[in-house]
Amino acid sequence: MSEKHTIGLIGGTGPEGKGLAVRFALAGHDIVIGSRDAERAASAATAIESIIDGRTGAGAITGRANSAAARAADTIVLAVPYAGQTATLEELGTEIDGKIVVNVISPLKFEHGRATATPPPAGSAAEEAAALAPAARWVAGFHTLPAGELADPESDMNTDVLVCSDDADAKKTVMELASGIAGARPVDAGGLESARYLEAATVLLININKIYRAHGSLKIVGI
Ligand SMILES: NC(=O)c1ccc[n+]([C@@H]2O[C@H](COP(=O)([O-])OP(=O)(O)OC[C@H]3O[C@@H](n4cnc5c(N)ncnc54)[C@H](OP(=O)(O)O)[C@@H]3O)[C@@H](O)[C@H]2O)c1
Repeated sequence: MSEKHTIGLIGGTGPEGKGLAVRFALAGHDIVIGSRDAERAASAATAIESIIDGRTGAGAITGRANSAAARAADTIVLAVPYAGQTATLEELGTEIDGKIVVNVISPLKFEHGRATATPPPAGSAAEEAAALAPAARWVAGFHTLPAGELADPESDMNTDVLVCSDDADAKKTVMELASGIAGARPVDAGGLESARYLEAATVLLININKIYRAHGSLKIVGI
């Protein structure tokens, strides 16, 4: 492992945050699950510990209220629904200032059994978040990794992790985190503006996976 981090998963009681927590813990990082409710965070941490099942080298997993989780972490993942992004950033306040925050949010709605992207006026949830909390070091990525596969340590991810940011050092750190996930290859997707395409790619994948009744993700060939 390169550097060991303490990663705060805000909204880590949901499937995507839990799944990322499993993979980051298996890679040896310490995990703090965040929730609007500290008890819910603690029980999610216990559930993740039982998935990890004492595997050698796994990091410690704890649960706290969102702002306490952000305070305890050096790197933060924002994994709440888009509808909760603004309220969550208000709740986190200055706790994320100066810290790397990875936005995995994809704004979307379901209509007639199909997912549709609902990008905000800023272009993407990540760009909007960066405008709302400019003192954080914003990165967007991990959108195309399905929660079910992430949460199953036996599942071979065999995927690319597309990562974008305007902060080159933050992007490098997050790409190193991604490379610690077994079967995942980090891919530099450019500046934060690329988040609008990564967020929309999630929608495309949901609809493809529905057609094929599968859990596919994305791989870039030829690079
Ligand atoms: N699921 C996937 O496969 C997947 C894949 C790629 C990207 N994503 C993105 O990752 C994010 C999380 O996905 P998910 O499926 O894990 O979502 P989720 O289960 O709907 O929500 C995750 C957690 O966010 C908190 N939350 C819910 N509504 C909220 C609100 N209005 N305000 C603040 N917090 C709220 C809840 O935690 P507490 O109640 O404990 O606070 C919830 O457990 C979404 O933005 C999604 O687009 C998901």
